[in-house]
Amino acid sequence: MGPFRFPLLLLAMTVLAAGVWAQDPCADCHAAQELEETEEFHLRQWRNSAHAAAGVSCADCHGGNSSTFVQLRAHKGVLNSGHPKSPTHQWNLPRTCGRCHDTEYLAVQESAHFALFERKVRAAPTCRTCHGSVAVQSLGEGGLQARCNRCHGPEADHREAGTSGQDALAKGGELLARMRALRGARARVSRDILRVQDPSDRHEAADALFQVNQSWEEAIEAGHAFHWDDWDAALGELEDLLGELERALAAGDR
Ligand code: HEC
Ligand code: HEC
Ligand code: HEC
Ligand code: HEC
Ligand code: HEC
Repeated sequence: MGPFRFPLLLLAMTVLAAGVWAQDPCADCHAAQELEETEEFHLRQWRNSAHAAAGVSCADCHGGNSSTFVQLRAHKGVLNSGHPKSPTHQWNLPRTCGRCHDTEYLAVQESAHFALFERKVRAAPTCRTCHGSVAVQSLGEGGLQARCNRCHGPEADHREAGTSGQDALAKGGELLARMRALRGARARVSRDILRVQDPSDRHEAADALFQVNQSWEEAIEAGHAFHWDDWDAALGELEDLLGELERALAAGDR
């Protein structure tokens, strides 16, 4: 019996692990299909996303029943995103995302663009414009040029579009770059705080990080509302807070 025990244990562990971690009938069955390139890309993007890591799956955006491998039952309520009732349809997507991300959804509703969206102006920016359909990317400066130029670019007729033109975009590019830099700094500082030995130093640093996180939320909110001045101000505050915290952490190291 002896030699068999180990492989059996391994087999049991594999089955258990597959059962606990990998079972998502929607994703598993789709992955097993002959996929067109765009769908394969969609699946791969999802797999590498913060959503997949957090357990946000196909059914959270598309609907359907994710507890069965029977296609007909799984697809109950699933509609192509071109269908006006689909939760992934252009005009429904912000509400679908907003179910879980209410801060961003509410902020977007404050912007002048939401009026365009409600008038069903196709080019009006929505969650997908900046984040892609599974939200693995965020809009970079190049993206701003391509997607926002239609109404704000040099070629656009500003009077006809009723917009303030290029200035908004130049400023937006600068704000995006600062946001990305601060995201890196915030991650570094959050990590370094865990290594602070002295309990009272650590407590102080944690308080400062709490403030950082509050300013981060303010920045996210202002950015999504397209309130460029408020965004600028929140980023300024973040830069100060993070700079101070980084210096304090470096001093503590010595
Ligand atoms: C047993 C296999 C299987 C399961 C389980 C399954 N699908 Fe599908 N799905 C398919 C196949 C095959 C297609 C393409 C053919 C078709 O449209 O029926 C498809 C098509 C789709 C489409 C495109 C529909 C359209 O009209 O363009 C969506 C969206 C979708 N599935 C989402 C899901 C979601 C969400 C789940 C889980 C709740 C799921 N699927 C579960 C096999 C499956
Ligand atoms: C965060 C939301 C989100 C998640 C999670 C998600 N999708 Fe999608 N999916 C979309 C959106 C939005 C579209 C519309 C087309 C586009 O933007 O690419 C789409 C399009 C599709 C399509 C093309 C047919 C159509 O209805 O347009 C299929 C098939 C599909 N998704 C299957 C899946 C499967 C399978 C999973 C899980 C592995 C999944 N999706 C996860 C948002 C999502
Ligand atoms: C069922 C809830 C749910 C839905 C629906 C959902 N999300 Fe998320 N989203 C999450 C969770 C959970 C996370 C990961 C934890 C976090 O960062 O808050 C996340 C993370 C994100 C992130 C951060 C990604 C990163 O790399 O850090 C963005 C951006 C995002 N979602 C946008 C969207 C957009 C756009 C949609 C609609 C297309 C959407 N989400 C739909 C729950 C959801
Ligand atoms: C004009 C472009 C734009 C639009 C439109 C947009 N976002 Fe964002 N979003 C961003 C940027 C930029 C970030 C910051 C990315 C980063 O962390 O570097 C972000 C971050 C996020 C995050 C992560 C927040 C965090 O705390 O890190 C979520 C969640 C999110 N957006 C959801 C949404 C949802 C939902 C919608 C639609 C209602 C939406 N966004 C529309 C540009 C946009
Ligand atoms: C379909 C046309 C259209 C597109 C595409 C568009 N906008 Fe706008 N935008 C407008 C209109 C209309 C206004 C309101 C008039 C104004 O303030 O100039 C506006 C206003 C703004 C404002 C001022 C908001 C405020 O509250 O003061 C900013 C900033 C802005 N847009 C940035 C962007 C960015 C960044 C993108 C790309 C993600 C974008 N826009 C895409 C039409 C558009």
